[in-house]
Amino acid sequence: MTTNTRTIPLLTERDALAGLRSLRSRQPVDYSAFYSSQLNGIVTDPALMVLPFDDHIVHRGHGIFDTAAIVNGKIYDLEAHLDRFLRSAERSKLRLPGSREQMRDIIIQTTAASGKREGSIRYWMSSGPGSLELTPARGAEPGFFVMIFGGLSYPERWYTEGLRVMTTTYPIKAPLYAITKATNYLPNVLMQMEAKEKGFDNGVFIDEDGNVGESSNMNLAFVTRNGALVHPRFDHILSGCTSLRLLELARAQMDRAQVSGVEVRDISAAEAHTCREMLLLGSSIKVAPVIQWDDQTVGDGKPGPVSAALLRLLDEDMRSSDRLIDVPY
Ligand SMILES: Cc1ncc(COP(=O)(O)O)c(C=O)c1O
Repeated sequence: MTTNTRTIPLLTERDALAGLRSLRSRQPVDYSAFYSSQLNGIVTDPALMVLPFDDHIVHRGHGIFDTAAIVNGKIYDLEAHLDRFLRSAERSKLRLPGSREQMRDIIIQTTAASGKREGSIRYWMSSGPGSLELTPARGAEPGFFVMIFGGLSYPERWYTEGLRVMTTTYPIKAPLYAITKATNYLPNVLMQMEAKEKGFDNGVFIDEDGNVGESSNMNLAFVTRNGALVHPRFDHILSGCTSLRLLELARAQMDRAQVSGVEVRDISAAEAHTCREMLLLGSSIKVAPVIQWDDQTVGDGKPGPVSAALLRLLDEDMRSSDRLIDVPY
């Protein structure tokens, strides 16, 4: 930041670009390709991966996003992520920047341009630039952006030893906002920061009725005392693509999942505290066991068999199912 002892320079185009490059050199990032409908193309220089400041997604959070995984040079479960993306767009009153087919094609081409064979694809839709009002600017062109990056990384210890989570003091999002994958992640960010400040790995939202919701950017599931896999209903939490797929896989292969049944229903925090296993599920974390919740040990305090079994099922599905799309590198 400039100080008040220095006259703030008026920058040329070249200076501004140098400033962006300098920012990136101070803060190296793992972004390998970025498509912007505003640039009408793909850039690979992180300094150029920018949006106009007056885009509604930036200054009002009026935008949505989703994330899919690149596994072994293929894109996993993109259709499910696109379904959710389009549902979020509708709920957010966003005008589509193109057809589903065009967006899918841009995602695939940006992945190919990145050369990445493992990593993440995050894509956003915005209502566009043009004013600093609350409603989108007149004639604003909706934006579509795709970023190929290394993906979120979590410590190996989470899988081998399990995680510790705390009930957050922050209120859960109202259902409409929780089921919409909008860029308003303030409660999720604050929950994770709070957990880390207090020495935990992540937080848990509990709803107003005392039922379990979800975690910061992942869903929660439990294994009851009688061995059933239980997941909260999706009417007030995000419909996790990982959860939905795992529920389907576990139902079809209960013996391999090591569960006696699969239920989607309300789970009170009191019941959840008596469960044998507690699991975190999501595209970035996949399946990870929780061994401590607040001051209570979960199960016997060790990662349980169902979490390992579900991780195997998911890994297998990510490598060999019919939900993989080829990337023309
Ligand atoms: C709030 C929230 N809940 C759950 C999930 C898990 O969803 P998915 O399995 O599609 O990654 C995510 C991640 O996108 C999330 O942000």
